Amino acid sequence: MPTILVTGGCGYIGSHTIVDLIDNGFDVVSVDNLVNSSEDILEGVFAITGKRVVNYRVDLCDYAATLRIFEQHPGIAGVIHFAALKSVGESVQQPLRYFHNNLNSLLSIISAMEKSGVPHLIFSSSCSVYGNAKELPVTEATPIEEAESPYARTKQMGEAVIRDYCRTYPAYNAVILRYFNPAGAHPSARIGEASSNPASNLVPVITETAIGKRPTMEVFGDDYPTRDGSCVRDYIHIMDLANAHTKALQYLLENRQQGNCEIYNLGIGQGVTVLEAIQAFERVSGQKLNYRIGPRRPGDVIAIYANNDLAAQRLGWSPQYDIDDIMRSAWAWEGVR
Ligand code: NAD
Ligand code: WQD
Repeated sequence: MPTILVTGGCGYIGSHTIVDLIDNGFDVVSVDNLVNSSEDILEGVFAITGKRVVNYRVDLCDYAATLRIFEQHPGIAGVIHFAALKSVGESVQQPLRYFHNNLNSLLSIISAMEKSGVPHLIFSSSCSVYGNAKELPVTEATPIEEAESPYARTKQMGEAVIRDYCRTYPAYNAVILRYFNPAGAHPSARIGEASSNPASNLVPVITETAIGKRPTMEVFGDDYPTRDGSCVRDYIHIMDLANAHTKALQYLLENRQQGNCEIYNLGIGQGVTVLEAIQAFERVSGQKLNYRIGPRRPGDVIAIYANNDLAAQRLGWSPQYDIDDIMRSAWAWEGVR
């Protein structure tokens, strides 16, 4: 089977995708400088799959070092580029660090692919590229609004770089995947989200509160114009998200694409409010969560969820898990990590 280079392979989405790739017969090489992760996660990958994955501890902004990896693995058939800094709040504090890291790493990867003749790229984008979308659910054709953070801007710019590159080189193929809110863990609880940075996303905040790492948590606003007043998001189980990458890769390798730069939304297509997410957690865990209603968090959009028809039709992808599965797996992972 072909070898796939996974950047950010020690991170949250990268590690779960590696498991799905191995389950589907691919060989994987990882490159991750561990700025937000640890190679320990690859022990979990080994426990699940029985396969040892090599990680190159390289900063992808270093083009020469990146190219050397391609030279050491002449059989690389495609690249899944997860590596990036991803904290929205941190990007507001350190915009240049985000532009430097997220854009230079992408430029290195595309340059090394060009030099090595590797034609297939899958790029991690984000629903944050839509900004405050004016229509719901969001389709891939929904107009892109102003980015709400430097992080979101790096994703808009990354998409633009890939689009322009594809226009010049028709033999190069890219799939851009816009993730909504990834959450949960592998059902075995051998791997899950293990960022070096403190968690700020809803699901890990819930599980950390329930297990006592945090005394309490806040729901950021209950006075929005939604069914219960709290914000609406599209939470997608990490294994559904991982499998979409395998499907996108198979799609590229089998030359089924219609254009050489395609974009897909990856959400389950259903909006869940913050309070509904908390109820789901309480239902599956049997725990009462200690939370209170706090003020709105600046920069939050009221509601966003995906129309995922395109991914279903063209990639043959359909999500299998719901919010209860997300909470069950996240809670099991919290108990062992
Ligand atoms: P993560 O931080 O867990 O994983 C990213 C990995 O990339 C980390 O292990 C980090 O050490 C590595 N990395 C960062 N910069 C690097 C560099 N210059 N060289 C080498 N390695 C580097 O994040 P994640 O949640 O797995 O996200 C993966 C991708 O998906 C990112 O591009 C992120 O922006 C995007 N995304 C994430 C979410 C989410 O909520 N998790 C949502 C939408 C999009
Ligand atoms: C979800 C909901 C909060 C924590 C972020 C990025 C986005 C993408 C996904 C990368 C919101 C509420 C949260 C808490 C709460 N990442 N909440 N109390 O902001 O939708 O999206 O991750 O690309 O770009 O912006 O995710 O998990 O932070 O919040 O009430 O302690 O939970 O207000 O409504 P968000 P989140």
